[in-house]
Amino acid sequence: MRRNVKERDISLYPDIQMIIRCYMSLFLNKLPMNTLSIEDFISGIPKAELHLHIEGTFEPELMSKIAKRNNKKIKYQSIEELKQAYNFNNLQDFLNIYYESAGVLIEEQDFYEMTWAYLKKVHTQNLVHAEIFFDPQTHTDRGIKFSTVIDGIHRALEDARNKLGISSKLIMCFLRHLDEEAAIHTLKEALEYKDWITAVGLDSSEVYNPPSKFQRVFEKAKKENLLTVAHAGEEGPAEYIWEALRLLKVSRVDHGNHCLVDENLIKELVKKKIPLTVCPLSNLKLKVVQDLKQHPLRKMMDKGLLVTINSDDPAYFGGYVNENYLAITKALNLSKEDICQLAKNSFAASFLDEEKKQQMMKQVDKYYQENR
Ligand code: HPA
Ligand code: ZN
Repeated sequence: MRRNVKERDISLYPDIQMIIRCYMSLFLNKLPMNTLSIEDFISGIPKAELHLHIEGTFEPELMSKIAKRNNKKIKYQSIEELKQAYNFNNLQDFLNIYYESAGVLIEEQDFYEMTWAYLKKVHTQNLVHAEIFFDPQTHTDRGIKFSTVIDGIHRALEDARNKLGISSKLIMCFLRHLDEEAAIHTLKEALEYKDWITAVGLDSSEVYNPPSKFQRVFEKAKKENLLTVAHAGEEGPAEYIWEALRLLKVSRVDHGNHCLVDENLIKELVKKKIPLTVCPLSNLKLKVVQDLKQHPLRKMMDKGLLVTINSDDPAYFGGYVNENYLAITKALNLSKEDICQLAKNSFAASFLDEEKKQQMMKQVDKYYQENR
């Protein structure tokens, strides 16, 4: 990066720079000793990710490697051609490619490698806790055993806990374009692995597949002491968010963008402290917003909503968690204080226990004090 003449000159005299900083820090109480760029500030802040589909982390390079190993053809001639297909007009455009790509995953090792690649990547981004969705029906409908899927994912999560210090929770999603009977069957299979699963969720094509369609299976999951979350208000109306709250008794709403059209709904979300897991680059790529500058995040924060920043399907939407923080920070001109609030929200909104949440929020505060 080219610096201007003044910056270059002053950088020749680190002592002078230090004296100036000390002076400003002491007398103006503005610049601390070590002011980070916004990119470095975002990169270093400890954070959690709460809205991440593991199948959405499947990078074309790994996909191509696993496809070859399993003798599976992908529709596209080259990785470049595949990446060019990532030009979506809406959620369904994306889901068509996402389900097709997941079709190359066959063995336990495949699920392990995909999950491990994500965890290694976000370890470099100072992600310390991940709550991860997986879609068993995408695989069991192709004849892959439920155990193959969950064993591979779980093994990678354990490795990340032991080798990278990343803690995690697993959230099993039902595909809402399928019927409730299929979801109930999937829940039964999952109960054998109850110790590995924290919550159930609802994803896939939202419009015409309201939360009410899954009321019974969510009631069954609740009876098994599983927590509940649901995608709602991404493409669907505010009414679907009400249904997620009232019928599915969700602890969090995934996306939730369309809550802003309903003042009573906003009041309810604020009063009950129901978090929204917002995904800026996903919203841009799937045309939920036309421009990040028009993204509702700022408005959501101003209304007192507990919002968090997440990557959704990073291999498809052009960025992992830090790229999402950075893109929305630049678009909405967020301050370091805002970023600190969002990072603290990511722990407050998590399924970690209260003591761990407090500990992590203190760490974020400390980081802010040292680097603001
Ligand atoms: N919305 C709904 N279903 C999904 C998504 C999403 O953003 N990503 C993966 N499955
Ligand atoms: Zn999602």
